[in-house]
Amino acid sequence: MNETLKVLENRRSCRNFKPDMVKEEELKAILEAGTYAATGMGKQSPIIIAVTDKKLRDEIAEENRKIGGWQEGFDPFYGAPVILIVLAKKEVGTYLYDGSLVMGNLMNAAESLGVASIWIHRAKEEFESDFGKNILKKLGIEEEYEGIGHCALGYAAEPAKDPAPRKDNYVYYI
Ligand SMILES: Cc1cc2nc3c(=O)[nH]c(=O)nc-3n(C[C@H](O)[C@H](O)[C@H](O)COP(=O)(O)O)c2cc1C
Repeated sequence: MNETLKVLENRRSCRNFKPDMVKEEELKAILEAGTYAATGMGKQSPIIIAVTDKKLRDEIAEENRKIGGWQEGFDPFYGAPVILIVLAKKEVGTYLYDGSLVMGNLMNAAESLGVASIWIHRAKEEFESDFGKNILKKLGIEEEYEGIGHCALGYAAEPAKDPAPRKDNYVYYI
């Protein structure tokens, strides 16, 4: 199996991160890979907000926790020090697909560099609220964006678990 296929098969979601910050050159490479995802008609509808500031990261985690309805103290980002938030421009017909592919690129690029990752949901609700809208406003983003997902990043505090077996009839040949 070549290195790319190994990365695609070996990527697993991490739910226990070390607090150590992701190295700058690794973070840059992961973000760059995200920006090269295919997009419908090449319109590049997504944007990525890279959150490394601990205070903002904790505020987003708290917002996400409340949306998810978890008990106080639960960290929906499992201690990850970096959160990459992918949003996509709603007026583009393929925005949801575009944003999801960016998420895939980010996670796979992370895996290729030994950086652990996980997709964390509820970005949509987060950016429909005043909390999320204020983040966009501070960045001077005025167009209508929908939150697609958070790619939480960091270094794994424990080895990755084995993947679930692939279901029968995943692939059909005709
Ligand atoms: C759209 C999407 C949303 C997800 N949201 C969450 C989430 O909010 N919290 C979480 O712990 N895992 C979340 N995950 C991770 C999945 O649970 C995980 O990908 C799945 O269990 C398969 O495991 P693997 O990624 O290790 O192959 C999400 C994954 C996807 C694709």
